Amino acid sequence: MYSEKQSDEELCTNIKQNEQEKLDRNSLLNFELKKIHELKSQSPHDIFQINFDDKIISLQRIDDTDESSTLLLEWRNKYWNFFNSKFDGNMERTKKWINTINNTPNKILFFIICDGEKIGHLGINLYNHDQNSIEIWSVVRAVKHFSPGLMEIVLKNFFKWIFSELNISTIYLNVFSDVWKAINLYERCGMQTIGTTPLKQIRTNDGWIWKNTTLQSKNHYAQRYMNRMKISSYLKSNPNLIK
Ligand SMILES: CC(C)(COP(=O)(O)OP(=O)(O)OC[C@H]1O[C@@H](n2cnc3c(N)ncnc32)[C@H](O)[C@@H]1OP(=O)(O)O)[C@@H](O)C(=O)NCCC(=O)NCCS
Repeated sequence: MYSEKQSDEELCTNIKQNEQEKLDRNSLLNFELKKIHELKSQSPHDIFQINFDDKIISLQRIDDTDESSTLLLEWRNKYWNFFNSKFDGNMERTKKWINTINNTPNKILFFIICDGEKIGHLGINLYNHDQNSIEIWSVVRAVKHFSPGLMEIVLKNFFKWIFSELNISTIYLNVFSDVWKAINLYERCGMQTIGTTPLKQIRTNDGWIWKNTTLQSKNHYAQRYMNRMKISSYLKSNPNLIK
């Protein structure tokens, strides 16, 4: 009888401990995705590897070496039309940007690496705790003209990693409606457009930034439009989508 009571007490203590651990975990998750936090505290390494077209492709968190910063600056200057803002890029600004990414919770940028060469990047941003969602941002393939379809394989495996390793339910992304190549890619990966927002170009000292705007009437056109796309976790319902 006594031992039963004791085991009841032990059980209660265990439950309380489990609940506390759950609370601690949740309070961290409320603010930060644990896995992203961990990745930032570790030296850059492959989060996964894929074999495609006789090549080894991987994703690795960006670092702030001069070599990486030079590449990021070069690509930012080349692909300015696909970003939200245009400005005169330089090394100092790029290093500051890398630092801001590293210091922003739930924001991370990965290099896409093909047989050891950095060929582009893509990242995660804006974790929404209520929806358990994140946004994909800064998708660029800068080194092209080989292995068509590479980005499709990379993105599909990135989605899989986000759903399974981060336990995310929904992935969103914003893409200018005139960037049809990217929209095609996202659709091939199973994303759907869920809305379109009109944009207005606001001039800055050394360029511009695209901001949401409201059209005066249905007969007016915006300077540019931003599509919002979405994909929900398909791992349970459709595991064959991932090759
Ligand atoms: C958008 C972007 C990432 C797409 O990259 P990509 O290199 O075109 O993508 P892929 O490696 O998957 O190759 C795609 C092409 O190969 C084709 N392809 C795929 N498999 C193929 C195969 N087995 N044989 C021949 N062609 C094939 C695809 O149909 C696609 O053709 P398309 O470009 O006419 O649509 C790239 O164009 C880019 O970086 N653009 C600038 C930045 C940008 O727009 N970013 C998006 C911001 S939201």
